[in-house]
Amino acid sequence: MCDKASCHNKSDILGKSLVCDFVGGAVNHRLRFGGGRGQDLARAAGLKSGFNPHIIDATAGLGRDAFLLASLGAKVTLIERSPFMYDLLQEGMDRARETGGITASIIARMRLIKGDSISLLPGLSPEIVLVDPMHPVRQKSALVKVEMRQIREIVGVDEDQSDLMKVALATASTRVVLKWPAKAAPMAGLLPCSHQIIGKSTRYDVFMLPLKMTP
Ligand SMILES: C[S@@+](CC[C@H](N)C(=O)[O-])C[C@H]1O[C@@H](n2cnc3c(N)ncnc32)[C@H](O)[C@@H]1O
Repeated sequence: MCDKASCHNKSDILGKSLVCDFVGGAVNHRLRFGGGRGQDLARAAGLKSGFNPHIIDATAGLGRDAFLLASLGAKVTLIERSPFMYDLLQEGMDRARETGGITASIIARMRLIKGDSISLLPGLSPEIVLVDPMHPVRQKSALVKVEMRQIREIVGVDEDQSDLMKVALATASTRVVLKWPAKAAPMAGLLPCSHQIIGKSTRYDVFMLPLKMTP
């Protein structure tokens, strides 16, 4: 693992370039052909017709999830602690802004902050928080997308993910969404979630706040 931009040639991580691209490719395809507010992430975040909340994406990464939420009308604050990932994301947002049109209007709803969400969340008084940490390596690692393996190469595994969840749960006012592998056990050390939205490979554990203690 290496987290200095100078340690990695951005154009070659695990033999493939890692770029943050909001204009072409998968992100653009999802923008044009995705399922709107019916998509799992949108439902997990509680997006409803006429309700455009402010969401904090506490684990920004390549900004894919944040862009999707912003494309559906939410205002999103993205927090990224890896200097390398932050630079990549900022460059991608700058390029998208320059293209103008609908992409730029979506980027205008996104604000990027550099830092650690564990220390920043309490000062932001969030309403809704999305947490998508780097998961521990799964057995069928070939199934993990190349991009995720590239990010893992840069940031490693987020060992403090349960600390982040605890801070998110203590500071958010309405809900916390944990993006997690579909078949993985619930994150240890947390109260049970309120409900789950389960997709083919990804699951959203949704914690509605305040959490109710189970008897
Ligand atoms: C799995 S990636 C997130 C991918 C992202 N959901 C997307 O759509 O591109 C996890 C990212 O969260 C960042 N991260 C993890 N814990 C963090 C924390 N406490 N504060 C800020 N960033 C964090 C990591 O550096 C990594 O870039």
